[in-house]
Amino acid sequence: MGGGVTAAQRPLAPLVGVRIPAPQLGRAAGLRPKLRFWLRALYDGGVSAHTAVILAAGQGTRMRSRTPKVLHELCGRPLIEWVLAAARDAGCTKLIVVDAPARPLDGLLGDDVELVVQPQANGTAGAVAAALDSVPGGRPVVVLSGDVPMISAETIAELIAVHEQSAAAATVATALVDDPSGYGRVVRGEDGALEKIVETKSDGDATAAELLITEVNGGVYVFDPAALSAALPGVGSDNSQGERYLPAVLPLIAAAGGAVGAHVVDDSSLLLGVNDRVDLAELRELAQVRIIEAHLLAGVSIVAPASTQIDVGVEIGVDSVIEPFTALCGATKIGERSTIGPDSTLTDATIGDEVTVLRSHLTDCEVRSQAGIGPFSHLRPGSLVRERAKVGAFVELKNADIGEGAKVPHLSYVGDAELGADANLGAGTITANYDGVNKHRTIFGQRVHGGVNVSYIAPVEVGEDAWTAAGSVITEAVPPGSLAIGRERQENKDGYDARRKRDGEDQK
Ligand code: UD1
Ligand code: CA
Repeated sequence: MGGGVTAAQRPLAPLVGVRIPAPQLGRAAGLRPKLRFWLRALYDGGVSAHTAVILAAGQGTRMRSRTPKVLHELCGRPLIEWVLAAARDAGCTKLIVVDAPARPLDGLLGDDVELVVQPQANGTAGAVAAALDSVPGGRPVVVLSGDVPMISAETIAELIAVHEQSAAAATVATALVDDPSGYGRVVRGEDGALEKIVETKSDGDATAAELLITEVNGGVYVFDPAALSAALPGVGSDNSQGERYLPAVLPLIAAAGGAVGAHVVDDSSLLLGVNDRVDLAELRELAQVRIIEAHLLAGVSIVAPASTQIDVGVEIGVDSVIEPFTALCGATKIGERSTIGPDSTLTDATIGDEVTVLRSHLTDCEVRSQAGIGPFSHLRPGSLVRERAKVGAFVELKNADIGEGAKVPHLSYVGDAELGADANLGAGTITANYDGVNKHRTIFGQRVHGGVNVSYIAPVEVGEDAWTAAGSVITEAVPPGSLAIGRERQENKDGYDARRKRDGEDQK
């Protein structure tokens, strides 16, 4: 699908964890008023909570994957979570997900999600039928496709509002696109009303003339539950795929006297579906542009957007700078005025204000304000680098607490350790934390001066203001304020060179 509004024209601020302080509220936040408008339209109509049914039981064969299609990630969030987030934001409080018989989604979605099982993947109508018993009567039910992830809360709310205002029994979201291949085509009668939707996934359902239609079914619907329940059993499987097509219910609802509407969504990209990994890669590019644009508009500098990866859940404070070839993944949070990159990967990392991270790899760790990381540091899970501390070149931390103003400047491994404030470990510090069976801790007090090339055999404690001599192997506690020397004394052999020469050793 192509055409419609370009990514650059439409940021997705509501989908992005951008921290937007009041004075910075700019275009990035501009979509919220639209959501507010549609939600207001709904509440004024006396409708509050809605039910959403999300179809996710398809086999997803075109993905060629052992992972269910809807669990494939788009910018750090599974496809189905994008859809659920939009449904929640649109005010849908009852969320029903249709899963396959093996229940691959069980336990992976929020507590507010009810799973129902479609006994066999016999088509989208079969999927909706599997959910019907859980759908309360009365209020309209929203049906979403688990593989149409860019759907926005605004679009869902808009579709419900249009459905309500036109007193329809069914309303389908459609889009006008440049390349409609693979999508169901919207066939309208001479009066412009929706007549039917014809499928095009495999040959035989659509005529040559119908294939020329560029209005497509977006796979997002609103139904009156009673009209849906009454018509659904009439949907057969006499078509090219031998499946029960959900769109086939629309003419049946119309025949039963219900009004059926087709609402064209302005931004066709919001209805893009993922059927294979080519679709996913294209959508990723689009979603990434929007995420980055929302951050730019919210006051973050991103030096080279095309080489920057930022997941949808990432938060970044104003005046932070993201340098090229940097990936910010998962639930990473970055404060204000920090500089991250170039060449850095942060996953689930929490970074304070005015932090510098240079060519480094950080996972599941915290770096507090004004600390400096890198170049070439590796911060592994459980690490905490406190205010103004420094972790330098070729340093690996694991489950280590680096105190305020403390320094591990070069070539060290510090694991299962605690470093007091203003302590300084020399180049080549190694904490021997693992005895082959258990992990042990190394505790350094405040203002410890660690020598170069010192190994600390954990468990061991180095007291406040203590020193360790270069090349030491520290196996016992070092009392506060003392100097520990844990190495062989140097011995000098006088006249050694002359003896070698006399004995002819150098000629051999
Ligand atoms: C469907 C629509 C098509 C529309 C397109 C929009 C039908 C028959 N066709 O086609 O008109 O243009 O979406 O993206 O509905 N699913 C089930 N159970 C099943 C089959 C599918 O739960 O038995 C789920 C899938 O997991 C998926 C969604 O329904 O999330 C859509 O199924 P898919 O096979 O991708 O339909 P399309 O061929 O894309
Ligand atoms: Ca699809």
